[in-house]
This record gives sequence, structure tokens and C-alpha cells, in this order.
Amino acid sequence: MHSSVENVFGIGAGGHARVVISALQEARVHVAGVYDDDPTKLRSEVLRAPVLGTIRELSDAIDGHWVIALGDNMTRRQIAARFPSADWLTVIHPKAYIHESASLGLGTVVFAGAVVQPGARIGQHCIINTGATVDHDCVVGDFCHVGPGCNLGGGVTLAKGVFMGIGSVAIPCTSVGEWTIVGAGAAVVADLPDRVVAVGVPAKVRRKLEI
Ligand SMILES: CC(C)(COP(=O)(O)OP(=O)(O)OC[C@H]1O[C@@H](n2cnc3c(N)ncnc32)[C@H](O)[C@@H]1OP(=O)(O)O)[C@@H](O)C(=O)NCCC(=O)NCCS
Repeated sequence: MHSSVENVFGIGAGGHARVVISALQEARVHVAGVYDDDPTKLRSEVLRAPVLGTIRELSDAIDGHWVIALGDNMTRRQIAARFPSADWLTVIHPKAYIHESASLGLGTVVFAGAVVQPGARIGQHCIINTGATVDHDCVVGDFCHVGPGCNLGGGVTLAKGVFMGIGSVAIPCTSVGEWTIVGAGAAVVADLPDRVVAVGVPAKVRRKLEI
């Protein structure tokens, strides 16, 4: 998906960025540099990619290919809105499996060991993290994060901005509402509403989110 791309810039220089950059490097894509608002990171390197400056100093009309390498779903949405004309790259680690009938939106990253099965539709600026599985006909909205080792059964729907914690699961045909957080290890066995934190097996709403 990015075989013809030579230079990419990243937004973010933290731990998640290292995984995004490593996926690009494994795919033989050169990462020209990254931007981060933490002043202590300036002039350092992230896996040989130089930290070139801050995000706030970037012009709104950025050139070249870009990826948002920040783990927080709402922050990725804000950054995407700030740079409406950016050429966002979809990043797939060479050791991920994506069926040819599945679709991935611009800016989405898929890490090593992840599996995306036939008919799955994944939106923009999502994270399909290490070893996560998205089974047939799932619909994953923009800005979602499917955490490491999470398993989505067939036909699961995640609305915009959902975070599925590490090792969580959702049984087939369930749905999770906008910006909801599903805790690590939880099992979604019935639909969850918008903007809540749900934990446990089976997953129960623990609190509402004010976002
Ligand atoms: C669910 C989660 C978001 C809750 O965060 P929080 O609202 O800050 O909650 P707290 O840490 O204050 O814990 C509140 C209570 O929930 C419990 N709890 C927290 N996470 C839980 C989980 N995943 N499963 C079951 N109970 C959980 C705590 O034990 C605590 O219980 P208590 O009130 O009886 O003491 C967080 O714990 C979590 O699971 N995050 C997932 C992180 C992850 O997967 N990261 C991957 C990054 S790549």
C-alpha cells in the first residue's frame, strides 16, 4: 500500500511512534523525520528518524506523506482536523495479514501480527495494534484503536473513536458506541453505548465519559 513512497514524516515521537516507524522501516519506507511538542525531544532521534521540530510550529499546509503516530484517539482526530489537506499514509507492517477484500482508511496503521479478514472495513487514522484480529465484515469507525491482542468477532461494529484495550474481545455482531473505552481483558457480549468506560467479563459500564 505504500511501496512507492520514499519519504514519510511522523507526528509524535513517543513509544507508539517507535512502533509506527518500525513498521515503516520494515516495509523499506524511509522516515524523513518526526515532530513532537515535547521540547526535550528536539534534536533527538526515534529509531534513527530525527525529531525535526514541534507540531505547533508546522504550517497548516504540510507537504509530503504523513502519519499521525500518537496513541490517543481524540488527539489523532484533532491533528487530522488541523491538517485537512495532508497526504496521510496508510501503514501496514509486512507481517500483518490484510485480506484483499478488506479496506483500510487513510492514516490507519496496522502492526505486526495483526489480521484483518474478508469484508472488514476500517476507517481513517485507526490503530490495529500488535496481534489484534478484526474478523470478517467488521466495521471499525475513524480514530478507533484496536489494542494489542484484541479479537473482534465477525460483524462487530466499532463506532468512531472506540478504544478496545489490550486483550479485550467482542463476540460476533456486537457494537460499541462512539468514543467508548473497553478495558483491558474485557469481553463485550452485548452492545455498549456511546462515551462510557466498560470493563470486565462480561463487559459492564463502569462510568460515563464527559467528551
Ligand atoms: C479501563 C481503564 C481505561 C480504566 O481506567 P480508569 O478509568 O483510569 O480506572 P482506574 O485505573 O482508576 O480503576 C478504576 C477501577 O476499575 C478497575 N479496573 C481498571 N481497569 C480494569 C480492567 N481492565 N478490568 C477490570 N477492572 C478494571 C480498577 O481495579 C479499579 O477498581 P476499584 O474501584 O474496585 O479499585 C484501564 O484500566 C484499562 O484497562 N486500560 C486499557 C489500557 C490498554 O489496553 N492499553 C494498551 C495500550 S497499547
